[in-house]
Amino acid sequence: MSNRVGICGLGTVGSGLFNLFATNLAEIARKTEQVPRLVQVGCRRDHPDCDLSSVAVTRDIFDVARNPDVDILVELIGGTDTARELVLEALANGKHVVTANKALIALHGDELFRVAEQQGLAIRYEAAIAGGIPIVKAIREGLAGNRIDWIAGIINGTSNFILSQMSEPGSNLAFADVLREAQDLGYAEADPTFDVEGIDAAHKLTILASIGLGVPLQFESMYTEGIAGITAADIRFAAELGYTIKHLGIARRSGDAVELRVHPTFVARDQMLAQVNGVMNAVMVGSDAAGQTMYYGAGAGAGPTASAVMADILDICRTDTSVPNAGYVDIRSADVLPISGIRSSYYLRLEVVDKPGVMADVSSILGNHEVSIEALIQKDSRRSDAQIVIITDEVRESAMNECIAELEASAEVLNPVTRIRVASF
Ligand SMILES: NC(=O)c1ccc[n+]([C@@H]2O[C@H](COP(=O)([O-])OP(=O)(O)OC[C@H]3O[C@@H](n4cnc5c(N)ncnc54)[C@H](OP(=O)(O)O)[C@@H]3O)[C@@H](O)[C@H]2O)c1
Repeated sequence: MSNRVGICGLGTVGSGLFNLFATNLAEIARKTEQVPRLVQVGCRRDHPDCDLSSVAVTRDIFDVARNPDVDILVELIGGTDTARELVLEALANGKHVVTANKALIALHGDELFRVAEQQGLAIRYEAAIAGGIPIVKAIREGLAGNRIDWIAGIINGTSNFILSQMSEPGSNLAFADVLREAQDLGYAEADPTFDVEGIDAAHKLTILASIGLGVPLQFESMYTEGIAGITAADIRFAAELGYTIKHLGIARRSGDAVELRVHPTFVARDQMLAQVNGVMNAVMVGSDAAGQTMYYGAGAGAGPTASAVMADILDICRTDTSVPNAGYVDIRSADVLPISGIRSSYYLRLEVVDKPGVMADVSSILGNHEVSIEALIQKDSRRSDAQIVIITDEVRESAMNECIAELEASAEVLNPVTRIRVASF
């Protein structure tokens, strides 16, 4: 029987899980014969929301990894170095592991899964991707009969909140102002780099691509671009053209290779992903038998994340003995297509000198690179410059790079060209 649980880390998620044990055990007992029992908590300090009087507490989280009375160690400390050591110690001592730590799985998953497999133990990480959305289970179990062709998701709540606020009708807010608001509301960290530079989303997409497309965890090959460069002007032009800007993670099969990319994306307003606003997350999956499916919910927070952690704990309690972990999927290496090799439509915004003939010259440069125009807005400015905004048809990114280089070399184009990829699902 594997149902004795030790929690390491009593922060946002750890306290949420602790309180789920306190409030929902009767509900949980209706769903499994092996009801999990919380036997130890490892935390450096008490948490004001948690009454620890009825559970053993240690100030050294490694005590939990060594405790013979713990069957399942739940790692909720975050970070990668100590968390990796803790998980290895737990596995060495015969414990299953549940974690919410996407960075740990994305960067060290291969090593940890190998050790777990050798030991006949499980590592579960549902909470690491999109918080309360059971997306790992959906892909591994609900869609197990499918070949998955692509996954596209809004998987960072902070970025989605910022873009949603900037897109509110009439907002005209700059990125930096909305970031400050997100920090005040607790939706963004004091150091927001991981979220707004796309690193957090890239960690999650690394894991999603591995379980969905059956490719190795390869964070280092991911193309990653954040939202810091998005301006109020881009948001306004997107709306004018019938789009909204979303920060998407996209993993897609492309022949024998795969595309792994995280970047701001123009999504047509009538598409489902365009309706996902605020801190909410959503993941769309394109597969051969089920077609398109979409999963929506809270991507973070104590309750939603603890819900996913508890689901993993229950899975281990139910299966009792050795549970395969990453081995659910036969991992085959696949080349990652460089970003220059993808095909996409593009939004281009050019600041140009305000004089006759400029549009003809811009069109001619686009034509030289076989870039055709699907939509165009040309705006005069009260200053001496004007804006040209273009949505192109689909073209290879390498051709677009050459086209942009030629545009930027032209004396009529005043500043670096803004380029945002356009996607439809
Ligand atoms: N928050 C979310 O909504 C969310 C959603 C999905 C996934 N996750 C993941 O869940 C994990 C936990 O996130 P969180 O938001 O709960 O973080 P958090 O609020 O910062 O909590 C982490 C806790 O771990 C403790 N801790 C860190 N190192 C420790 C050590 N060496 N020994 C003992 N305690 C230690 C910290 O203690 P101190 O207070 O003493 O520093 C803190 O209480 C992370 O991997 C995160 O990526 C979080």
